[in-house]
Amino acid sequence: MSQAIRYVRYGGPEVLTLDDVPLPDPGPGQVRVAVRATGVNGIDWKLRSGFMDRGRRPVGPTGVGVEFAGTIDALGAGVGSGKGVGGWSAGQAVFGRVPSGAAATHVLADTGNLLAMPDWLSFEQAAALPVAVETAWRALRELDVTEGHTLLIHAVAGGVGLVAAQLARARGVRVVGTASQARHDFLRDLGVRPVEYGEDREDREDMAERVRAAAPEGVDAVLDASGRDVLAMSVELAGGPDRVVTIADGRAAEYGVRFSSGVGGSPLEEVFAEVLPLLERGALRVPLERTFPLERTADAHRLSEQGHLLGKIVITVP
Ligand SMILES: NC(=O)c1ccc[n+]([C@@H]2O[C@H](COP(=O)([O-])OP(=O)(O)OC[C@H]3O[C@@H](n4cnc5c(N)ncnc54)[C@H](OP(=O)(O)O)[C@@H]3O)[C@@H](O)[C@H]2O)c1
Repeated sequence: MSQAIRYVRYGGPEVLTLDDVPLPDPGPGQVRVAVRATGVNGIDWKLRSGFMDRGRRPVGPTGVGVEFAGTIDALGAGVGSGKGVGGWSAGQAVFGRVPSGAAATHVLADTGNLLAMPDWLSFEQAAALPVAVETAWRALRELDVTEGHTLLIHAVAGGVGLVAAQLARARGVRVVGTASQARHDFLRDLGVRPVEYGEDREDREDMAERVRAAAPEGVDAVLDASGRDVLAMSVELAGGPDRVVTIADGRAAEYGVRFSSGVGGSPLEEVFAEVLPLLERGALRVPLERTFPLERTADAHRLSEQGHLLGKIVITVP
């Protein structure tokens, strides 16, 4: 038997239940992972609340969670013994992505979305990485920022923002980022020039001025990880919509801005070939805002929805 966090109707965090479910069998090209930790992402509560589904109803029980770390406990056909991608084996520590269902004791994962976990990473750390790292890496590639450029990141203290900022810094890019005052010292330590986004409307209207003061050389590109109505200002600051990418504002097209979607995503192998060495030597850090046990996934969603995280929330599985 296995256990999984699921919901049968859209709603607040209270619709989540921890259910007993049959142990899933891996299909061809899949492994079953005994989950030790799973990262929490905005997409989890956006799916659970129905926000992403425009009023349609989930059909039957639906799992949550799109990233995980754990150990392989069963192999599907064509996987392992040197025959499958990477030659996976039972007991091996891995981390990766799934479309849903990672908040569970067991999850089925395609080997194409799986990476071997180095022994210097903890399960909690590894589970926090796939979404934030792949998204940040993809957004930087789409923006094509290179050494000497100045990049503005909205919501730089969140999971994606922090990874994007550190990756950009490692590539010689200057980074300015919006965050609340409490994050500024932490951000300066990472080499980011912090700018307050401002709580009230008047404050927010002055944000462009604060960015110009923090980046007198000008802004070459903008990554919007905030989704809080910053696209018009960003286009103006960067000098054109083609210099702006949002991962969080569904009105991107209204501004001629590219929305970078996680559907498909970039190959984890390629992404982590650059990122794992940075993590290993401490040049990239992903702080954990908080961890929760699996049965408290609803509380993890509540905290995620409040939208003021430094880094990631992770759920641990016994
Ligand atoms: N399209 C994709 O592929 C993709 C992939 C991953 C995530 N996303 C989306 O991208 C967004 C960011 O994801 P995430 O995981 O980085 O989020 P997160 O970890 O929840 O980060 C939220 C951050 O937003 C900041 N924030 C709150 N209000 C703000 C404001 N008015 N202006 C600027 N920053 C503000 C917070 O900073 P303070 O604590 O300083 O307030 C916090 O650090 C979410 O909407 C998520 O759903 C999209």
